[in-house]
Amino acid sequence: MEFKLQAGGQVKGRIRVPGDKSISHRSVMFGAIADGVTTVDGFLEGEDALCTLKAFQAMGVKIDGPDKGRLVIHGVGRDGLNAPSEPIYVGNSGTSMRLLAGLLAGQKFDVTMTGDISLNKRPMERVAKPLRDMGAVVETGEGGRPPLTLRGGQTLKGIHYVLPMASAQVKSCVLLAGIYAEGETSTVEPAPTRDHSERMLQGFSYPVTVAGSKASLQGGGRLKAVHIDVPADISSAAFFMVAASITPGAELTIEHVGINPTRVGVINILRAMGGDLQVFNERTVGGEPVADITVRYAELQGIAIPEDQVPLAIDEFPALFIAAACAKGRTVLTGAEELRVKESDRIQVMADGLVALGINAEPTPDGIVIDGGTMAGATINSHHDHRIAMAFSVASLRSTDTIVIQDCDNVATSFPNFVELAREVGMQIEKLQ
Ligand code: S3P
Repeated sequence: MEFKLQAGGQVKGRIRVPGDKSISHRSVMFGAIADGVTTVDGFLEGEDALCTLKAFQAMGVKIDGPDKGRLVIHGVGRDGLNAPSEPIYVGNSGTSMRLLAGLLAGQKFDVTMTGDISLNKRPMERVAKPLRDMGAVVETGEGGRPPLTLRGGQTLKGIHYVLPMASAQVKSCVLLAGIYAEGETSTVEPAPTRDHSERMLQGFSYPVTVAGSKASLQGGGRLKAVHIDVPADISSAAFFMVAASITPGAELTIEHVGINPTRVGVINILRAMGGDLQVFNERTVGGEPVADITVRYAELQGIAIPEDQVPLAIDEFPALFIAAACAKGRTVLTGAEELRVKESDRIQVMADGLVALGINAEPTPDGIVIDGGTMAGATINSHHDHRIAMAFSVASLRSTDTIVIQDCDNVATSFPNFVELAREVGMQIEKLQ
């Protein structure tokens, strides 16, 4: 599928974007291995989270829904999963593969996980290594990439793992394996990353101790079913935050957005660029902070993005690069080499797209340098990456000509109604089959 965007348009109104992808994945994983019935509201009915849901159904967990964001998960308890009859296909979803690797490493059965063309290029050694250190038997495909096979019936031992990179997926993988391991398992991260696993495990009555950069838990415990209310995904809201920030006359309110402090880099960075974002109605919903956010047009300035904001905005850089292209002056990103191993190489793919639009964008090994300027029209390849497709859609609000974006099917992995909401606020977008 392609997106075609007429140049210009408006960004006005009040919207709610779909549920948080990270929290949706975890709600199914933890609900499945909990004792009792877990109910979930606001679940993201996107392909990635649905892959996680289907994986647990394939392992014998009864899950009703999703029905308008509601799931009822009949937990089977920590040892109640059954061997799937065939390899588990997790599509585009790195979160499914890496977190499931941890959760399944200590089971009695073998399991193989496969992915799509994008996921099959992504590094899995980063989870295989600590799992092997715990005693798991893990096989990867060539070069440490998928498919990933876990051999069942191993005895896992807790480890103290110092993460070589800031990755919530690796941290979560190790902690989930730790539930099935003997003794204590702990992780130390080089910079704060999203802490939804730690928060939600505690919500499921599984004690996790967090002290600074260290998270630890004891193996052998059980999870108790709970109700989960999933906030709207700040990573999806980010496209509309940038859309409103770059569009003269824009004023948009985004409701019920998750503002977990480990996820708010996009707000901090846009504000540092001169963005006008008002965060209000702050409240806590099921252990996660939530707020409404009003964004108005502002003249943005290029900045050197502080490196401590990188893990807090890791999924929002495609959108932020569009903000940088519309800003006055130069924006410099460093310390973001992780962007090269996301659903696509987001540094190269964004640089290529920006250059095609006439922007001076220079990729570096760990970031990018972008000079604000005027964007023309172009045809852009999203490389099967949902966030690249949505970022360049937003660019059309300030381009001088039509933008066509190729390979947009994967937008459905995280934001199935993106086109509808974009049209609702005033963007001129259509789908071409
Ligand atoms: C995620 C963690 C991040 C993020 C991904 C979701 C998670 O990946 O990019 O979209 O749910 O834990 P890394 O942990 O690899 O940085």
